[in-house]
Amino acid sequence: MKYLFKDVTVLSMNEGMEIKLSCDVLVEDDIIKAIDNISHGVAEGATVIDGKGKLLMPGLINGHCHVPMTLLRNYADDLDLQTWLFEHIFPVEARLVDDDVYWGSLLGIMEMLKTGTTCFIDMYDHIDAIAKAVDASGIRAHLSRGMTNSNEGSDFSEDKGLLENIEFIKRWNGAANGRITGAFAPHAIYTCSADFIKAILNEAQKLGAPIHVHLDETRVEHEDCLKNHGKTPTKYLYDLGLFGQKTIAAHCVWITDEDIEILQENNVTMVHNPTSNLKLASGIAPVPKAIEKGVNVILGTDGASSNNNLNMFEEIHLASLIHKGVNQNPLLVSAEDSLKMATINGARALGCSNLGIIKEGAKADLILIDPDKSHILPMHNIMSALAYSVQGSDVCLTMVDGKILYENGEFKTIDMERVKYHIDKSFKRLF
Ligand code: NI
Repeated sequence: MKYLFKDVTVLSMNEGMEIKLSCDVLVEDDIIKAIDNISHGVAEGATVIDGKGKLLMPGLINGHCHVPMTLLRNYADDLDLQTWLFEHIFPVEARLVDDDVYWGSLLGIMEMLKTGTTCFIDMYDHIDAIAKAVDASGIRAHLSRGMTNSNEGSDFSEDKGLLENIEFIKRWNGAANGRITGAFAPHAIYTCSADFIKAILNEAQKLGAPIHVHLDETRVEHEDCLKNHGKTPTKYLYDLGLFGQKTIAAHCVWITDEDIEILQENNVTMVHNPTSNLKLASGIAPVPKAIEKGVNVILGTDGASSNNNLNMFEEIHLASLIHKGVNQNPLLVSAEDSLKMATINGARALGCSNLGIIKEGAKADLILIDPDKSHILPMHNIMSALAYSVQGSDVCLTMVDGKILYENGEFKTIDMERVKYHIDKSFKRLF
């Protein structure tokens, strides 16, 4: 299949943050085949998409999510993380079955596609059901089985979560034309014993798989770790050897200057989840300092239960604002910084040089934005418009792996009414 985006403004997200006006972009199969000066022969047979007045950019990468938690949206709000998680979320999650997770994932995927996300990095239970939803919908995802086990000891060979995570990597890593990749996910240091984390690390090393973990999210986690282990959560995981594997660490709200150095030296990606951290009053991560020190910082929504949506344009917006406000410094975290966190940095976290960027040979994960709106015009500066004016609902087309999955309100691979029917069914059963 071939598509030709004609006469479109392109935000490349390359090194020089190049913007091309009146540009043509040819997609063939899953790849961006050619940009500009495309001879008629090469584009022959392509479906033409009129890009006049529109903006083409790489699809957004949601760096930390629990996609089936759409089922718990608007359920337990205005609570602190410990109460929210242990008293409200975990009891409902214990009642989830594969079917709930499948349809909950599709609901979240619909929302992400509609608001410009083409890839998400996820951690949850019932991971096969999530993978099936990813496969069926056409989106790209990096999935891991969130694991908890507080037991000490050396034998975790019977641990259900760990067995499922191992099985998942073997079965799904690289599936769906490479759209699905896998990681191991020790949930957090307060839900996993040191021995269990070591057992997970051992399996990750055997399979050459990366790690996805919650890190230093709250003051309680930070202070308990200091009290129990005499070191910060970052130092604790570093000493366990976890960062020897490629690691994506969500939140990092309470990290110290020394922690930032550890993250940077070990190429650990830090996921900033501004909405979730604000909503659960966890605090505000030291993102400006992490960026300054060269840490790869990416952006995520976290689950829909602590957000309460999966709209990455809101995260871009917030990330560009809160650090200016709390530090009383308008020069911190520019529009460009936030856009990088939501695209090219996400690709770096996944070890993919052909994602999060518009260049010849890159994956055709693209979004088209219609800026012909009263809340965007006039568009003096494209990056400012994207960070400060554009809404997720301004996305008019979303393409993943060279296939159009969403266009002008219509989902090409997902039956919206069917999803709503099953969500209602799950909702009635669970609550
Ligand atoms: Ni999370």
